Amino acid sequence: EGVEISFPCNIWLLKFKPDNLHFPFIYSFYPIPHRICESLVYIFLLVVTKLFIVCILVGLYCYFVLARSGDSTARIWTIPDGPCGSIQSSPASGHVLKHFKGRTNEKSKDVTTLDWNGEGTLLATGSYDGQARIWSRDGELKQTLFKHKGPIFSLKWNRKGDFLLSGSVDKTAIVWDTKTWECKQQFEFHSAPTLDVDWRNNNSFATCSTDNMIYVCKIGDPRPVKTFSGHQSEVNAIKWDPTGSLLASCSDDWTAKIWSVKQDKCVYDFKEHTKEIYTIRWSPTGPGTNNPNQQLLLASASFDSSIKLWEVEKGHLLYSLAGHRQPVYSVAFSPDGEYLASGSLDQSLHIWSVKEGRILKTFRGSGGIFEVCWNKEGSKIAACFSNNTVCVMDFRM
Ligand SMILES: *[C@@H]1O[C@H](CO)[C@@H](O)[C@H](O)[C@H]1NC(C)=O
Ligand SMILES: *[C@@H]1O[C@H](CO)[C@@H](O)[C@H](O)[C@H]1NC(C)=O
Repeated sequence: EGVEISFPCNIWLLKFKPDNLHFPFIYSFYPIPHRICESLVYIFLLVVTKLFIVCILVGLYCYFVLARSGDSTARIWTIPDGPCGSIQSSPASGHVLKHFKGRTNEKSKDVTTLDWNGEGTLLATGSYDGQARIWSRDGELKQTLFKHKGPIFSLKWNRKGDFLLSGSVDKTAIVWDTKTWECKQQFEFHSAPTLDVDWRNNNSFATCSTDNMIYVCKIGDPRPVKTFSGHQSEVNAIKWDPTGSLLASCSDDWTAKIWSVKQDKCVYDFKEHTKEIYTIRWSPTGPGTNNPNQQLLLASASFDSSIKLWEVEKGHLLYSLAGHRQPVYSVAFSPDGEYLASGSLDQSLHIWSVKEGRILKTFRGSGGIFEVCWNKEGSKIAACFSNNTVCVMDFRM
């Protein structure tokens, strides 16, 4: 029983709205970028982004979403020292991390998220099959972590590297002990899928969900140490500022908010975007960072095609960066905080001067851009395109 509808490709995620289940309203198809690459010296990681979504409808209700036809691999690439020039790298030149054993039509194991540990010796990947996998930098599978009952959407090491945190569609978050690889604690506070997790320090973190809530949790504590409510729709991403005192969140309710554990209501409510906000990033500047004399900024990237830069101390808009013509999926500050890279479905990658709020450079590709990131030195930028290509570009001003 039921109807199967297949969409003409280029749909990566059906955003499942619990309050919007009827078929005529299941319109929110947004490509979900696979989260790629934390840069570490010259090693980058690619996730092949070719998911195909089929929605299974039973009667008028959308029951679940199947993601198919990513190739279920992650890859580690070595980017040669020196300028990139126009070297073309074939997929065969990287380490291929296969998340399946032979039969590719097994339950989907497509990679949804990944994170390097601080030393760059281990890589963690999270998949649609609910498993987290740990790989050596040579691409050897070291460990498989089973416990989640749904896809993992977010996975992060703490700074110290003794715990790994995962957030899943099964509503829970799990802290894994990286010495024994056992589940240290499972946190079951949300009433809907967990979309993002972020460490505050070595033993406490925050989680956000499609249930509109944010919880701050501490290892060993059976209850949330803080609850932030105020968003009117799904919270897509959360990030602690460099000192772990402020938490930024962004949502489908078109707002970005800043929270402090010292108060229940948000400190700032940024309402200038006119569509969903997909991601946010703090600048690597201000107290406690490598750039202590520059002010702390927050960047928000939205489906309204703009990026906004917020002055956090005063709580107001510094620049609205207009230049993209389609949803912006990714923003990344250069390590010195002077530049901001942004990638959009409009196939362009812009580099902005943070000081002046204007475009300094543009790279145009032949596919939408789902993620951009800088290497540690700020000399190269990598971007992944919807045509299954990762490009690494030299950046010099
Ligand atoms: C976390 O642990 C690392 C390594 O032990 C230490 O350098 C760092 O300061 C700790 N971070 C915090 C916020 O306590
Ligand atoms: C995909 O896009 C990249 C970036 O624009 C481009 O360099 C590459 O040639 C394209 N690949 C194909 C197969 O179209």
